Formats: sequence, structure tokens, C-alpha cells
Amino acid sequence: MVWALSFWTLLACNDKVNARIYSSARLAEDIEAYEEWDHAPGWPDVHAGCEDPHTPIVEIWLNEVAFGAMATEPKVLPDTAALVLQVWLDEQGTEGTLLAMRKVEGIDPDNGDWFWGAFDPEGAAVAAGAASDPDAGPSVADCVGCHRSGVDFVRFPGMVALDPSVACP
Ligand code: HEC
Repeated sequence: MVWALSFWTLLACNDKVNARIYSSARLAEDIEAYEEWDHAPGWPDVHAGCEDPHTPIVEIWLNEVAFGAMATEPKVLPDTAALVLQVWLDEQGTEGTLLAMRKVEGIDPDNGDWFWGAFDPEGAAVAAGAASDPDAGPSVADCVGCHRSGVDFVRFPGMVALDPSVACP
């Protein structure tokens, strides 16, 4: 009994630790080389964003783990998969927000184990967290609320069908 209790206490603690072992700083580090990653399949390098808050122009990159998962069915992205979206404010390339989502196994099982982040053009995190993290703030709840309709929370059209003619989801 004592053993069982401490076992569950330990598990509960681990959950909290899990939520804290990943952070906006870790996310920034993990996506540092995003410009060398592949672009989203079936999605031209630069494209009109489908929906606020990703307008008017977006560019999406996938790390190797995420890109590899595109060829599998069903598409469930594994641990360490990361996707980055740069918002461009105009055709001259004025940088808007940089958004990212990264799978961190065990961080938020009810919401696909995604950690979300938004960075301003200076690189400061303006929103970051997992949906179940009470400190994550309303912006992260917005990310998850809208992305829930995607395939494993991913929304660009190539995720739904590897067909460039598919319109916005
Ligand atoms: C109202 C809906 C909505 C909200 C809110 C939203 N997104 Fe998205 N997001 C989309 C759509 C639609 C796409 C597909 C590409 C496009 O249209 O720009 C997308 C694409 C992305 C991508 C590229 C991978 C993918 O899923 O296609 C990332 C990364 C991303 N969003 C991060 C975020 C983050 C971080 C937040 C919150 C700070 C957020 N999004 C809020 C709708 C939304």
C-alpha cells in the first residue's frame, strides 16, 4: 500500500516535472536551424495564409522527424517532431511572428503532446506552453482550440492530402 501510494505520488510529480522540463528557451534551441529544414510538402515555400492569425503570407518548415511522418498513414507525428511557421507581413519580407509546435512526449497527452510557442521578430517568446499548463496563457489555448480540427493538430493542407491543389483546410 505504501509502495503503491508513493508510486502514484511519484508519477503525479513526474507529470508536473514533465510540464516544466520543456520551455520556450528549449523550443527556441530546438528550432534554431529551421531555415535549413524542408518546406511542408504540397505547400509552396511562400503562400497566402489560410486563416487569422497566420496572414497575410506564411512559410512553413518541418524538421526531419515531422517531414518523415508525412509519408505515413495515419499521420501521427512522433516525439521531437517540430513545425515552424513564419508570418510575413508583406511581399517585401517584413517579418511577423514566428510560430512553432513541437512534440514532447508525455507533456500533454490530452492535447497531442504538443508544446506551442510564438516569438516576435527579436526572438522574444510572446506565448509558450502546452495546453494543459495553467501558466501557458490564453494565446496557447487559442492555438490548440483552432489546431484541434487538424490531423494530429497540424493544419496545413498537405497534412490532409499530399496534393498542392487542396485549398485551405
Ligand atoms: C484560428 C485558427 C488558428 C489559430 C488561433 C492558430 N493557428 Fe496555427 N495554423 C492555422 C492554420 C489554418 C494553419 C495552416 C497554414 C495557414 O493557413 O497559415 C496553421 C499552421 C500553423 C503551423 C504550421 C504547421 C501546421 O499546423 O500546419 C504552426 C507551427 C502553427 N500554426 C502554430 C500556431 C501557434 C503557435 C498558434 C498560437 C500562438 C497558432 N498556430 C494559432 C490556424 C490557426
